[in-house]
Amino acid sequence: MTGWHDRLGVRLPLVQAPIGSACTTALVAAVSSAGGLGVLAASWTTAAELSRQIEAVRAATPHPFGVNLVLEWPQHERLALALAHGVPVISTFWGDPAPCRRAIEDAGATHFHTVGSVAEARAAADVGVDVIVAQGWEAGGHVRGTTSTLALVPAVADALPATPVLAAGGITDARGVRAALALGAQGVWVGTAFLLAAEAATHPVHRDRLSSATAEDTVHTEVFSDGWPAAPHRALRNDTWRRWEAAGRPAPGARPGEHDVVARHPERGPVLRYADVTPVTGHVGTVEDMALYAGQGVGLLSGTRPAAAVVAELARGLHRQE
Ligand SMILES: Cc1cc2nc3c(=O)[nH]c(=O)nc-3n(C[C@H](O)[C@H](O)[C@H](O)COP(=O)(O)O)c2cc1C
Repeated sequence: MTGWHDRLGVRLPLVQAPIGSACTTALVAAVSSAGGLGVLAASWTTAAELSRQIEAVRAATPHPFGVNLVLEWPQHERLALALAHGVPVISTFWGDPAPCRRAIEDAGATHFHTVGSVAEARAAADVGVDVIVAQGWEAGGHVRGTTSTLALVPAVADALPATPVLAAGGITDARGVRAALALGAQGVWVGTAFLLAAEAATHPVHRDRLSSATAEDTVHTEVFSDGWPAAPHRALRNDTWRRWEAAGRPAPGARPGEHDVVARHPERGPVLRYADVTPVTGHVGTVEDMALYAGQGVGLLSGTRPAAAVVAELARGLHRQE
């Protein structure tokens, strides 16, 4: 039986999840060149910048890659642009994939949609989504549901026997890949492990915390809500989180230090304390107080490696026990 990745011309069923602005064209190209599928995080990108990014990935690798769009915001223009460029994979998250479906299908692209529950998976499959990403709540970044990867993936696979399902959340090494396949997944979707790839734009302060953190250092919270309200996410505990918790998790308007500019970036501008912004190279200030997104698998990671080494480690899990 041919897998979803064979049909796309991707050698390995391993996907580098979009990791917000830490995602660079070099990362996407390195993952695709190493045999996985790299995915650009394009939800906030201008049209000119998205065109430049797509062309940069194309110049760096002949292999397929994807563009991810978070449906919390209108994405019609970015979607049309990515499809006009012939991007073969469009990934959507956080919303109803139905309005995007027709354009993706008409362009002959493959539609991935990330879900956090069986009900959401069924709804996505009903509108024709090609590949379902089942994201467990161990995941880093924004977390759609409240079910663990271990319970969610087999339930989604059982509910949708005709649709490829990828496992996301807490997978960082070959053991996680083996476990995901045993649960019925046909591949994995990995974010946090790629935050530590050399090609990612992850800020050094974030890298250091990721390198030394344990699973217990992460928290499922709504603290970093400026820019993306009422959207639970998983990040490392830091002073911003501690102050908000100590104050009883107050609503916007009553949060401690909410007008503090904790960091600045020469092109991206100032960052307020409760912004949903992930720190990247170039941010200066108290970067430690920003949203240091991380999944529970962080405890299995120990430092920066080339993206190809991350892919090689995950690929070991595709074979039977070594
Ligand atoms: C820093 C960061 C940023 C993320 N940004 C996006 C995004 O822009 N779009 C999206 O669909 N998912 C995003 N995610 C979620 C990932 O797609 C994925 O579901 C998650 O990282 C999987 O769990 P893991 O981190 O345990 O591997 C992000 C995750 C992280 C850690």
